[in-house]
Amino acid sequence: MNLPDIILITGTDTGVGKTITTAALAAALMAAGRSVAVYKPCQSGAATGDLDTGEIVRLAGAVTAEAGVVLQEPLAPVAAAAVDGAPLPRLAVHAGRVRELASSHDHVLVEGAGGLLVELDPDGGTLADLGSLLAAAFVLVARPALGTLNHTALTLEALAARDLRVLGLVLGSWPSAPEFVHRSNRDVLGSLPAPFLGAIPERASELSPARFRAESAAWLNGLPA
Ligand SMILES: Nc1ncnc2c1ncn2[C@@H]1O[C@H](COP(=O)(O)OP(=O)(O)OP(=O)(O)O)[C@@H](O)[C@H]1O
Ligand SMILES: [Mg+2]
Repeated sequence: MNLPDIILITGTDTGVGKTITTAALAAALMAAGRSVAVYKPCQSGAATGDLDTGEIVRLAGAVTAEAGVVLQEPLAPVAAAAVDGAPLPRLAVHAGRVRELASSHDHVLVEGAGGLLVELDPDGGTLADLGSLLAAAFVLVARPALGTLNHTALTLEALAARDLRVLGLVLGSWPSAPEFVHRSNRDVLGSLPAPFLGAIPERASELSPARFRAESAAWLNGLPA
């Protein structure tokens, strides 16, 4: 599987399936014999049980997984850090840790918080800025529902404006009984210049980890061979 060392996973919104997509990508890479680290620069919502790295390890298996900072409230990082009274690491700190992980793993998958332009540090640095610092490629996770075409176009435009490389698009949660709107959106998203990498079935997180790992490469069948 011919993928870059450092891949940043962003979404058109929060809750679109970045975590499950990151887990599937990690599982597919590991099935291809690659070592994988997952890094979540800012994890919000620990008090309500949100821990994306834990979910990724449960589903994907033996990946190194860590968060740069863990915040209690289910809020954007700057707001959550203010409530906790915790300092947010600067982007350079995240970039340094990602480079360290890249030196000891074949791939590092970095899952953003919310969408591309959410502020991650006290200087207003975003995942887009982290992508520039690391010269990394992006996977964009989108919804299949109404509204996704605009959100996807906006995010792709923001990536293009910064000369950031897009590996491709993933639908984070593909319904088991898709309606016309879902199929129509999938057709449109599948015909954009950005490659369409695949779709994760809804309820994939309820599969046994063994099945999740066995099926992940098939869900992401648009990944470069
Ligand atoms: N394909 C899927 N299978 C099962 N559950 C899913 C799927 N996609 C999304 N979900 C569920 O929807 C919710 C949001 O998904 P997820 O946590 O992956 O979003 P996210 O984009 O990572 O959000 P965040 O910005 O909080 O990191 C979770 O409860 C997750 O379990
Ligand atoms: Mg997540």
